[in-house]
Amino acid sequence: MKFDVLTLFPEMFGAVKTSVLKKAEDKDLLEINLVNIRDFSNDKHNKVDDTPYGGGAGMVIRPDVVYDAYLSVKSEKSKLVYLTPQGKTLNQEMVKDLAKEEHLILLCGHYEGIDERVIEEIEPLEISIGDYVLTGGEIPAMVLIDSVSRYVEGVINSESVEEESFSEGLLEYPQYTRPEVFMDKKVPDVLISGHHENIRKWRRQESLKNTYKKRPELFKNIELSKEDKRYIENLEREVKQ
Ligand code: ADE
Repeated sequence: MKFDVLTLFPEMFGAVKTSVLKKAEDKDLLEINLVNIRDFSNDKHNKVDDTPYGGGAGMVIRPDVVYDAYLSVKSEKSKLVYLTPQGKTLNQEMVKDLAKEEHLILLCGHYEGIDERVIEEIEPLEISIGDYVLTGGEIPAMVLIDSVSRYVEGVINSESVEEESFSEGLLEYPQYTRPEVFMDKKVPDVLISGHHENIRKWRRQESLKNTYKKRPELFKNIELSKEDKRYIENLEREVKQ
């Protein structure tokens, strides 16, 4: 999978050039290409922005430089995403869909935004990472790259993806490692029992319990088995007592 990132601050992307994603790029599973929008300035001072028509604070990125930067990477297979607080809020479903693409172009805004005319012309899919305003689209672009890359085959081990589908839509169950006792707290017996079916059942119930306590609204997006429903009814009963 290839990402082309259109940004005024390519140096911010060190975070996706380390760790798991660096290994994936080294193995040619991913390519994260950073395109500096400033390289497309036609101005002798490399200016890419100007004051807003109508007045007001800040600077607006010119449409012509963004358009030229976009044309330099666009292909028949590319899907264009503009990171903006006005977009649809990113969720795991959208992440999975984006992971099916071969080529994503990520456009990062900065300052007061990008001239509206180029946005109308290139018709990007607009994505936000949450209802808060950041200084630019670079961190959201990194969030998108990281979350999408996990679904590219070989980037993380396939067991992790399988485990995730087991608790699909629910919060994760708690994890433990050595030491067996920490601050008088012992690892749950079932996890040292070696009984795989009991461990599976316990983990499912812990996922349900975590979701019930912390994010009960997530249940409305999930199909639950009879056994799951029975377990949740018991949790409700315990709370009422
Ligand atoms: N740019 C600034 N804030 C943003 C957000 N929350 N999501 C996506 N892009 C942004």
